[in-house]
Amino acid sequence: MIAARNGRPGRARLAALGAYVPERVVTNADMERHVDTSDEWIVTRTGIRERRYAAPEQATSDLAVLAAEDVLRNAGIDAAEIDVVIVPTCTPDHLFPSVSATTAHRVGARNAAAFDLQAACSGFIYGLAQATALVESGIARNVLVVGAEVFSKILDMSDRGTCILFGDAAAGALVTSGDPEATAGFLGFELGADGSQAMDICIPVGGTRIPASQPFAPDQAFLKMNGREVYKFATRVMEESIVRLLDRLELSIADVDLLVAHQANQRIIDHAVKRLGIDESRVFNNLERYGNTSAASIPLALTEARDAGALRPGALVLLVGFGAGLTWASCIVRYEPE
Ligand code: COA
Repeated sequence: MIAARNGRPGRARLAALGAYVPERVVTNADMERHVDTSDEWIVTRTGIRERRYAAPEQATSDLAVLAAEDVLRNAGIDAAEIDVVIVPTCTPDHLFPSVSATTAHRVGARNAAAFDLQAACSGFIYGLAQATALVESGIARNVLVVGAEVFSKILDMSDRGTCILFGDAAAGALVTSGDPEATAGFLGFELGADGSQAMDICIPVGGTRIPASQPFAPDQAFLKMNGREVYKFATRVMEESIVRLLDRLELSIADVDLLVAHQANQRIIDHAVKRLGIDESRVFNNLERYGNTSAASIPLALTEARDAGALRPGALVLLVGFGAGLTWASCIVRYEPE
């Protein structure tokens, strides 16, 4: 329940992480069976080797629930203590109701407000910014942010330029109210959007511009992407956003212990790593096993970085993403789970 402002607000803290990935593994060899592509092309151009697909009966909220339960377990917190559930997603179960309300209900977050957040692959960082604002304004104490996507059901499996890129997953974080004097927590955000390139990643049909009630070509109900334009946009905004954020916080890239970028394409990440001059030992990627899982990709990589020992308590972590909208986002957080 969102209460009125009550007492001195705490500082927002990244308290716990968690994830869920569906069981079904789809390899590049599987992709070769239905489009004219090759493992060699996919690995060289994207870095992706396999991705996960949800089961036919699994919708986005089914993944979100399992990821949310993992976050709650890792946080050691009862679901009834959650004040807000935010689900960044661009592949909701339905246009409405929200995935977040369904997820809150199913995990037992009976005192929580809930809303979905549509900023595509930038959605998790946008969600962290929302959570930080809610906590540091004193409106909420515990905010669950779970990026959840089922891309496999919105892909045109005959379009080799898109179907090889995306996978399904859910992952998230708990943002809690910590010591108001703490130096840890979220140091800053840099968020942006450029709607002039809106149609460079879109699903043309099914909204109010071209409703599903009108006649349409079947492929128009699937994801469409102008890959080259998105590639140019991504390589530009990732670097620009990080430089703006570091400048504003009077930090340098040498201060960053770990970079976790949106896992879309290894070449895009490598470009940013090279331009920023950050050592590869301070970059965590898991793209080769999951492909692009959109709003789930950054928290999934963070969760695996924690499990691999690459994300340690006290680390200064830089997150950066970009996606449909077109949108971008970056964030610097001191990871202090306890
Ligand atoms: N297998 C084999 N060939 C493929 C292919 C595939 N899966 N997909 C495209 N090709 C072909 C194209 O048809 C083209 O052939 P042509 O030269 O005969 O026309 C050729 O490969 C080069 O295509 P191009 O689009 O220039 O490739 P690219 O190097 O730009 O790679 C992407 C394509 C999609 C991998 C790349 O543009 C990309 O990653 N863009 C960003 C997408 C993204 O991250 N989106 C999510 C944002 S959150």
